[in-house]
Amino acid sequence: MSVRNWVEKYRNAVQNAELIELVDAPDLFCNQVGAWAFLKLAFLWNYAYYTYIPIIGRRYSNMCYVDLFSGSGLDQFSDCSGNPQLILGSPLLMATINSQYPFKTCFFFEANSECADTLSRRLHKLEESSRLTCKYYELFCDCNKDIDKVINNLKGLDGCHFLLFVDPFSTEIKWETMEKLLKLNYPSFDMIFNFQPFGVNRKSYNPKTITEFLGDSDYNAYKHTDERILEALENQYLQKLRKFPNIVKVIKRVRIKSGTGSFYYDLIFTTRKAGSPWVKNIDYLKKVIEKLTGYSVSIIFDPTIKTLNQHIK
Ligand SMILES: C[S@@+](CC[C@H](N)C(=O)[O-])C[C@H]1O[C@@H](n2cnc3c(N)ncnc32)[C@H](O)[C@@H]1O
Repeated sequence: MSVRNWVEKYRNAVQNAELIELVDAPDLFCNQVGAWAFLKLAFLWNYAYYTYIPIIGRRYSNMCYVDLFSGSGLDQFSDCSGNPQLILGSPLLMATINSQYPFKTCFFFEANSECADTLSRRLHKLEESSRLTCKYYELFCDCNKDIDKVINNLKGLDGCHFLLFVDPFSTEIKWETMEKLLKLNYPSFDMIFNFQPFGVNRKSYNPKTITEFLGDSDYNAYKHTDERILEALENQYLQKLRKFPNIVKVIKRVRIKSGTGSFYYDLIFTTRKAGSPWVKNIDYLKKVIEKLTGYSVSIIFDPTIKTLNQHIK
């Protein structure tokens, strides 16, 4: 499949016109994003729909989804010609997933009140139109403060397994919060963590913030003064994750590039099942996504550019 075909295929889910029409309104807030956000959301949708849900949903009676940074439910970016393009944000993508085994319950954290109110209105609209495929809890607060509520809820469910999506701007998740999740004996989870090296590095000059994020004031990154600092920060985080092999047995990293300049972020996927067939799907997704960039997505979405197939293949 060419990369253009891959984008077009997942565009049907991430830019589901029928759902967007239900939840869009001129007065409702949308998160402004780069075109590369499409790649992140296509990864999430693909992994949930083709791998996580069919395998976990069949085996666990309480398969849940936990979104620590939900946003407003709709994201907007500009294509190559500057046309606005709307795509569904992570909570709406997961709460409407149409499968034999949809999520039983979704937990949505969002700390910003405008995003939270908007997300809530969008979820209600989908509920009224019978488009939601799960129960959901709105946790419109700082995920670091209220993570225990979700943990206690999940612990009390029989046959529970969950997909955790961590999508901050930079350092908004404290290590203390991450550690509470990683120390869980039950239930287990797979995680997709959007690690933002540039954002984290920007915050690394604030000792309190970076220490809370890394859970460690002795961060190796300061040994570097050039771009290696980005890799060093991320490697330090990965090393910390690896200290929890009960939850994190496998780590895969998918790099998402902006395509304009050197910006990138890394989707860090973790699971406790080594050697499983679903890790092969991650390898495949990595291969395709790493051939693409935000810039190539902005070309593919542009209805006036149909002749650049060769250029972006
Ligand atoms: C990158 S956006 C999330 C985008 C969303 N996942 C999507 O697919 O559209 C990060 C969101 O996290 C929210 N946020 C920031 N700090 C937070 C915190 N401590 N707890 C919960 N939400 C937070 C922001 O208001 C913002 O909406």
